[in-house]
Amino acid sequence: MALRDRTCRGLEGRVLEIGFGSGLNVGAYPPAVVSVDAVEPSARAWALSERRRAGSAVPVARAGLDGQALAAPDASYDAVLSTFTLCTIPDAAAALAEVRRVLRPGGRLHLLEHGLAPDRRVSAWQRRCDGLQGLVAGGCHLTRDAPALVEAAGLRVQSLEQSYLPGPSVAKPWGFVSVATAVRS
Ligand SMILES: C[S@@+](CC[C@H](N)C(=O)[O-])C[C@H]1O[C@@H](n2cnc3c(N)ncnc32)[C@H](O)[C@@H]1O
Repeated sequence: MALRDRTCRGLEGRVLEIGFGSGLNVGAYPPAVVSVDAVEPSARAWALSERRRAGSAVPVARAGLDGQALAAPDASYDAVLSTFTLCTIPDAAAALAEVRRVLRPGGRLHLLEHGLAPDRRVSAWQRRCDGLQGLVAGGCHLTRDAPALVEAAGLRVQSLEQSYLPGPSVAKPWGFVSVATAVRS
């Protein structure tokens, strides 16, 4: 939750959250958030989020099923939130192109993602385990470099903190996380 709080800090106005899941970020939305449009393909995850949505001070509405093809007009959001979603979306580059399109100029993407570690021994394990991870964890990848994908999509990374989550060394392939904001110029 501490990482989610840090990621959501500074969110304001109309927000789009891609890969809403069971709504674990709802309690971290700052008061400056006016509304959240949620994109989530899983009916089960959406149902699981019901209690969190009902208890939210911020109105949350489902706005679509696929972050790779958003229904929203260009420049229609002040901010986009993605937590542990760019690892799972089949085409992360397509989703980030959509994020860029729907953000207003000056709007920001806030993200919390696990991904490719800088240490060669860890990244070698990530490459070895990537296929199996996809099979057992709903299409999740271990080897995506979220900040690099964001820059490649034409968003400028403004802040970036990277670290391993606390835990045993054997968990490192799953535990290298980035907390970042990126601005759309
Ligand atoms: C690991 S979960 C993270 C959920 C939530 N963001 C969180 O932090 O707890 C990945 C989420 O991405 C969603 N997802 C998968 N494909 C997607 C797509 N094409 N567009 C949007 N979300 C997608 C999954 O249904 C799932 O809810």
